[in-house]
Amino acid sequence: MADSRSRDAAVSDRMHTMFHRGSAIRQMFEEGLRLKEQYGADQVADVSLGNPDFAPPVTFNRALHIMAREQRRHCYMPNAGYPEVRDTVARHLNRKGLFEDLRGEQIVMTCGAAGALNVVFKTILDPGDEVIVPRPYFVEYRFYVDNHGGRLVLVETQDTFDLDVDAIEAAITERTRAVLVNSPNNPSGRLYPQSTLEALSAMLLRKERALGRRLFLISDEPYREVIYDGRRFVSPAAVYPNSFMCYSWSKAFSISGERIGYLAVNPALRTDDWTTLMGALAMSNRILGFVNAPALMQRTVAAAIDAEVDLRHYAAKRERICATLAEAGYRFRAPEGTFYAFPETPEPEADFIDRAKRHLLLVTPGSAFGREGHFRISFACSDATVALACRKLMTLAEACGLPPSKRRVPAHV
Ligand SMILES: Cc1ncc(COP(=O)(O)O)c(C=O)c1O
Repeated sequence: MADSRSRDAAVSDRMHTMFHRGSAIRQMFEEGLRLKEQYGADQVADVSLGNPDFAPPVTFNRALHIMAREQRRHCYMPNAGYPEVRDTVARHLNRKGLFEDLRGEQIVMTCGAAGALNVVFKTILDPGDEVIVPRPYFVEYRFYVDNHGGRLVLVETQDTFDLDVDAIEAAITERTRAVLVNSPNNPSGRLYPQSTLEALSAMLLRKERALGRRLFLISDEPYREVIYDGRRFVSPAAVYPNSFMCYSWSKAFSISGERIGYLAVNPALRTDDWTTLMGALAMSNRILGFVNAPALMQRTVAAAIDAEVDLRHYAAKRERICATLAEAGYRFRAPEGTFYAFPETPEPEADFIDRAKRHLLLVTPGSAFGREGHFRISFACSDATVALACRKLMTLAEACGLPPSKRRVPAHV
């Protein structure tokens, strides 16, 4: 840790450390800007960020126009969101079969999934409480848990990136408050199968009985619509009673800048005091400074909630990336969901990331997600960027001496 006397005292020690440690993705972002400036944007294949910049569904745009024409309703509202929007979300989740009897009162509208996770953690964590997270994991989780005095406990996943339920069980201690899972997973692309989630649920129920207290399951699922090959999404939050579902429209609707999502509490959650639980969640939303989710966006997503999302372009990009990786001889598993691929680096990670940079290919190191020896490719970018990235991946594989394979990639390697 840097000596606090030698640094700019405008920043707290804690933030100083965090800022300098948690900077792999930010550094990549800045490096990307610099390289684009130096070589021209069309020369740099920047596949480092998961920031989809595509047109939202037509239904969303139409709803936005209608809402914007209304000359009213821009003031504060109940901190949990508009009651009619919460009802709409609950009905939608029941219709989709994710829950059966969810009610609007069990929803809090939030500023994206990031807001939802922070609201949940603020509500359930006491200082020193532990949150178990399988790795690789979305790097911001560490900060979100830390924001509320919690401690992140990382556990390994299986080679297939599926959850290792035994490893999660072994990590449970007297201080464990929650397990946080993300399916489909950023960065691995793994969609957790129902059998794994049922095993996780059975284990957590058994541990709850043994410990004589509650263990929560938090399901972060902003990518649940982005799945391939006709697979079916099973929500971890629906499989286990003491659970929270955190969702965001950022990815499915390509509206990450609009900051809109929600948290839903499983109606089977065991509590005698729903009033305090939902009141505390709404209060967390307020006192974290979010106050409430953006009014215009709440009304718009509610009006567009059944919008058909055409994600075929991701499937085509995924095919192209997977075919290239296979042909070039990289070791990888085709993602089952998300818009990320997470191959192994063919040489030590830092060397490969540097080599890729010299070839003007920007990818995110696996160590940024707690899994060294990998790199993440985001295909939430244009076809031209995917094509350029594929050419560079081939060149890099040759430079690393990877044996080329003529094998075509099966749908799920
Ligand atoms: C796994 C995961 N969870 C949560 C978030 C945050 O989503 P949002 O920006 O919509 O709040 C992201 C964003 O990339 C993510 O990848």
